[in-house]
Amino acid sequence: MTEKPKYYITTPIYYPSAKLHIGHTYCTTIADSMARFKRLDGYDVFFLCGSDEHGQKIQRKAEEEGVTPIAYVDKIVAGFQRLWKELNISNDDFIRTTEERHKKVVQALFQRAYDNGDIYKGKYEGWYCTPDETFWPENKLTPDHICPDCGRKLERISEEAYFFKMSKYADRWLKYVEENPGFIQPVSRRNEMIQFVKGGLEDLCVSRTSFNWGIPVPFDTKHVVYVWFDALVNYLTAAGILDNPEKFRRFWPADVHLVGKEIVRFHSIIWPIMLMSLGIELPKMVYGHGWLIVDGEKMSKSRGNVIDPIPLLQEFGSDAIRYYLLNDVQLGQDGNFSRERLINRINSDLSNDLGNLLYRTLSMVEKYRNGTVVSKGDASGEPAAAEASDMLEKAAADTLQSYRNSMNGWKINEALKGVWTFVRSMNKYIDVTMPWVLAKSQDKAPVLDAVLYHLCEGLRITALMAEPFIPIAAEKIWNQLGLRGFAEAALKDGVWGGLPEGTQTDKGDPIFPRIEPEDENDENQDHTQPAETPAEEKAPLISIDEFMKTDLRIAEILTAEKVRKSKKLICMTVSLGDEVRTVVSGIAQYYEPEQLIGKHVIFVSNLKPAKLMGIESQGMILAASKDGKLQVPFVDMPAGSHVK
Ligand code: MSP
Repeated sequence: MTEKPKYYITTPIYYPSAKLHIGHTYCTTIADSMARFKRLDGYDVFFLCGSDEHGQKIQRKAEEEGVTPIAYVDKIVAGFQRLWKELNISNDDFIRTTEERHKKVVQALFQRAYDNGDIYKGKYEGWYCTPDETFWPENKLTPDHICPDCGRKLERISEEAYFFKMSKYADRWLKYVEENPGFIQPVSRRNEMIQFVKGGLEDLCVSRTSFNWGIPVPFDTKHVVYVWFDALVNYLTAAGILDNPEKFRRFWPADVHLVGKEIVRFHSIIWPIMLMSLGIELPKMVYGHGWLIVDGEKMSKSRGNVIDPIPLLQEFGSDAIRYYLLNDVQLGQDGNFSRERLINRINSDLSNDLGNLLYRTLSMVEKYRNGTVVSKGDASGEPAAAEASDMLEKAAADTLQSYRNSMNGWKINEALKGVWTFVRSMNKYIDVTMPWVLAKSQDKAPVLDAVLYHLCEGLRITALMAEPFIPIAAEKIWNQLGLRGFAEAALKDGVWGGLPEGTQTDKGDPIFPRIEPEDENDENQDHTQPAETPAEEKAPLISIDEFMKTDLRIAEILTAEKVRKSKKLICMTVSLGDEVRTVVSGIAQYYEPEQLIGKHVIFVSNLKPAKLMGIESQGMILAASKDGKLQVPFVDMPAGSHVK
């Protein structure tokens, strides 16, 4: 048996200094779509995310809040992990730099560089950007001492420090980058980095003494390791450099570090030089993507223009957000976030082009063939349909091929746009073949069979190609087509003709409902809380079997927020142990959202989803009510427990 090829992809590890915004989700979404694509294409993927938890900035934030740094980061990092779950991020590991496994590696490697003679003691006199955790030499600054990267005021620091001999490696770095043109991508960033190094490399300060929230330097414990030296090493820790040599041999070197453009310098200059000093192989590629900006400016708390991804996810669902980010922004360049365009994309590409195509197709299979994709049929009895069918088959093969090429060449939005061109060609195929006309004459039955087969088969291949972008919808398409085992499906199954004849389809609700303008009256349709049965009216008796149809589970409330423009509704995300749901509940007059977070409640998990104020509620929280009072019973059992 030939072994699967491996693919190791990383995102940066994020600072837990603030809430994540939609710009942060951009980077992780891209990496996730690439990781999913590679898995689908037969690779053994290791996809790493994490958090960068040490440094002066974090220590200060914790002090401001009057908590210990670890308590501070624990809370924020739990939020990161929840967000990645809600966005359907398929990371295989999540590394925290405060973990023991990481501390050991950082200390061992710092020691190794010191033993090699590449780290020496000196004194740092100069400027520091604490929010970016970056040292700035005087010759790169203007007299006002503003950070050239983020524009914030720098701090003057003067302290004993260890230095890493970057300058020693400048020529070796230049040679390496010249010999490996694909190492820094896109090309524009490569040129920028070459210019930077040609301008002269200074030794890097790699320890601090004026605070202690960091990993102690092993041979001089009043120093902590500079946070970037600590952070970059995470890619080695997670690959198992110390604790799992077999895994390390398999996955290192990383295939790609995907990072935002402002940290390309750290990943493509400092990091490879650290690795050269340590005698460790270099990653194959550093890809610097652009930023998601708002009205031409980078999102930041200080500018007050951050867009919180959680309410967007609750309002539109993860697939829609993922689709928008991957489609609207050209990788490598900056892209402006626009809520209006997000809604347009949902309505036109997802709801109209794809959702309607599936719904129309399955409705026709239901109407004309009782829900069965009877056979591959034969379109030759209708020349226009025969020609259109051949073209569709060819388009599927061509699309799959260019999709693969585009994804492998990091042209994710080209790949995605190609898939949607194919989807639109299927809509045109319906217009050309007019199945409703074919259905009228018995002798056109083989042609109608062929048309229905082509549509379902085209949708099957679409589901495969769309999985990296919209994984939930892709699986729904697969299941509605009557197929099973989506988790095991692979891109190599995208060869035309894979849909078995006789497949029984299973039409469900439209996969992407259109986004309608919000309406205050929506909340009156609150069916997340059952109406009270008047005391004089006894509820009708039901059998135990009827009762057992209700799947009651313990749910942990992860987030809770009042629904905008509603007096009654609170929108929550709840964990059922192995999955996260959104639920909208009419309890805002009885509870503040903060009182609910962390509570365990009884949850009806198999209730049909319902839309409330534009949010899909995927279940119901049980509450007791009488005489205008309401109480949600809180229980002390783990999320996911069955209530019997
Ligand atoms: N902790 C460092 C990374 C260390 S990696 C060894 C860091 N963290 S960060 O939280 O500030 O940024 C994490 C990532 O989010 C970076 O790649 C950054 O470019 C990205 N983004 C932050 N804002 C962004 C946008 N507005 N748009 C796109 N990406 C953005 O840097």
